[in-house]
Amino acid sequence: MTAITAPDATTGPLTSDAHGAYLVGKEPVLTARGVSIDYEVEPVVHAVKDVSLTLHRGEILGLAGESGCGKTTLAYGLNRLLKPPALLTSGAVTFHDQGGEDIDVVALSGDALRAFRWDKVSMVFQGAMNSLNPVISVRDQIGDVLKTHRPGMSRAQRAVRSAELLELVGVDPVRLDSYAHELSGGMRQRVMIAMALALNPQVMIMDEPTTALDVVVQRGILREIMRLREQLEFAVVFITHDLPLLLEISDRIAVMLRGEIVELDTAESIFQSAQHPYTRRLLGSFPSLTGDRGSFVRTGEGTGEHQEGPHA
Ligand SMILES: Nc1ncnc2c1ncn2[C@@H]1O[C@H](COP(=O)(O)OP(=O)(O)OP(=O)(O)O)[C@@H](O)[C@H]1O
Ligand SMILES: [Mg+2]
Repeated sequence: MTAITAPDATTGPLTSDAHGAYLVGKEPVLTARGVSIDYEVEPVVHAVKDVSLTLHRGEILGLAGESGCGKTTLAYGLNRLLKPPALLTSGAVTFHDQGGEDIDVVALSGDALRAFRWDKVSMVFQGAMNSLNPVISVRDQIGDVLKTHRPGMSRAQRAVRSAELLELVGVDPVRLDSYAHELSGGMRQRVMIAMALALNPQVMIMDEPTTALDVVVQRGILREIMRLREQLEFAVVFITHDLPLLLEISDRIAVMLRGEIVELDTAESIFQSAQHPYTRRLLGSFPSLTGDRGSFVRTGEGTGEHQEGPHA
């Protein structure tokens, strides 16, 4: 496999004009129908309310919304990672496997659940770069994922695959012998992405994967993610409160407010003709989307003013 060297450019678009082109003719890979999740505490928190969405093969679906709106809870629900007091109270999650088999994610248990998580759908956890084990080398941490899920692999095969994974995410394989404290934040996050890629998942859920990083590093990693999804054809649920970023990288964007998805549309439609007042407010809260550059946000108004107010 050839090493990928990413230009760590900070300017220029992250996607080509083919924005959204991934959707054309693509089959669904993950479907959620009427998913509700509570935290069974006193008083009960209704964190996710009746959420339905479809993720297509190879699609980047952005999930936006302010802190506490339920993004991480929904992600855990999709990947069967909820632990008490969290409880999926209703709804269905179906994974449409490559071979054509439909997997009822909610009904999975035991070996079938272990074979699903990480293999079919992997996750880059919020704050993941700070959760690398400080006393275990990168080699052993990636090796552990392979050992657990691919028990048939030899030590030598694991070493080859680990090096290949680091190359995929733009980290020199000499880093296999490093420990977390020897790596920059960007490198640690790339290692976490490598681990999520380890088993060739069809879906990756990335929860704020670049939020803690500076802009240059962030864009380098985003470019890598975009390139990898084209090369390996996995779909991505990309979670962030950074709506301008989602507009750049997503095929479609779901906007979440207090546990509900209030709007779900192509990135272009969200940018140009958002329907829900909350989406419009969210767009208006980012200075980079207003003013001169953002003057076409709400086509037809032509004033550069697109927040709710006298013009709206
Ligand atoms: N273990 C828990 N017990 C009780 N309530 C919880 C628990 N975890 C999360 N919540 C509540 O569930 C709601 C959704 O939280 P969640 O972490 O999913 O939001 P989020 O959109 O991911 O926020 P952020 O952007 O800050 O990561 C919040 O009101 C939160 O306080
Ligand atoms: Mg979260």
